[in-house]
Amino acid sequence: ETFYQPTNNGEASNRETEDIYAKMDWDKLGFDVIPTDYMYIMKSNEQDGTFSNGALVPFGTIDINPHSAVLNYGQGLFEGMKAYRTTDGEVQIFRPEENALRMRMGAERLLMPSPSVEQYVEAVKQVVRANKRWVPPHGKGALYLRPLLFGSGSVMGISPAPQCTFLIYTNPISNIYKGRTESLSLLIDNKLPRAYPGGTGGVKNIGNYAPVFQVVKEAKAKGFSDVLFLDAVEHKYIEEVSSCNAFIVKGKVISTSPTLGTILPGITRKTIIELASDLGYQVKERKISVKELLRANEVFCTGTAVGISDVGSVTYKNKCIKFKTGPDTVTQKLYDLITGIHAGLLEDKKGWIVKI
Ligand code: COI
Repeated sequence: ETFYQPTNNGEASNRETEDIYAKMDWDKLGFDVIPTDYMYIMKSNEQDGTFSNGALVPFGTIDINPHSAVLNYGQGLFEGMKAYRTTDGEVQIFRPEENALRMRMGAERLLMPSPSVEQYVEAVKQVVRANKRWVPPHGKGALYLRPLLFGSGSVMGISPAPQCTFLIYTNPISNIYKGRTESLSLLIDNKLPRAYPGGTGGVKNIGNYAPVFQVVKEAKAKGFSDVLFLDAVEHKYIEEVSSCNAFIVKGKVISTSPTLGTILPGITRKTIIELASDLGYQVKERKISVKELLRANEVFCTGTAVGISDVGSVTYKNKCIKFKTGPDTVTQKLYDLITGIHAGLLEDKKGWIVKI
């Protein structure tokens, strides 16, 4: 159920965002298209690949050449970040340098120039400041930031674009699994893997996502929240859910799949590894077989969009295995910790928070 009527296929001029803003019901946020006031845009220099002259512009459509490398050959990356509102109304972001570095890593893989970490972080700060009113009230969600980097320059043959565009738009959200009041129910479907050795699963390549639409749609039609993918070679080890990393808890040991090229190095993943280790858990990055997963006490997913989501059940070969959820779990402890840091309820002892 949407709570505003988008015109223009969800895009809006600033006059329209005024109307949308006036009608916002912060209690009904999900993961829907909500245009905000400004976006940030910066292009690379065709000669040396450096980025300059970035600017905030009113949110809206962009011109894209039919010859662009992104449209023809999928030369593109995205990032996901959030701006949070604290109880005193301030706005803050979390570990932005990590996203900048991950985008640079992906850009290397797809042969694109990328903004420096400083340029990236500055752009994020500017776009959040410009859209500050769209950061939901404390506890109602967050302003999702979507940095894109894509080959906007024209090519005909299979080659990288001579010019790339870096763009950040923003969109208020609460949870990607909207309307969910229960823990996730995942389906292990070994028909299709998400990523392949030597492929691009380890970077935030735009092309990693559309290939799973079909399998996820089928799973959702059967009532599952999402799909847990297996490795492409042995179909034996768990990899990722369509939009997030997966963890298992067994006693005092917390495990997650290693980032060896087919797993996205999530920033929430990395944060949870550190926080759980600080709490005295033994955290292991290693291959996890389905058999082992099914014997775990708890399973949870991490990602920017999902935050930390507990998994209530995993179904494999028509067998549904249930896991512990609720207040007295390791998952809940980690959830409270990370969400507390994000929203400024807990002290940031690590220098992860950047105030806007
Ligand atoms: C995120 O968690 O921010 C992501 O980028 C996942 C996305 C597919 C929703």
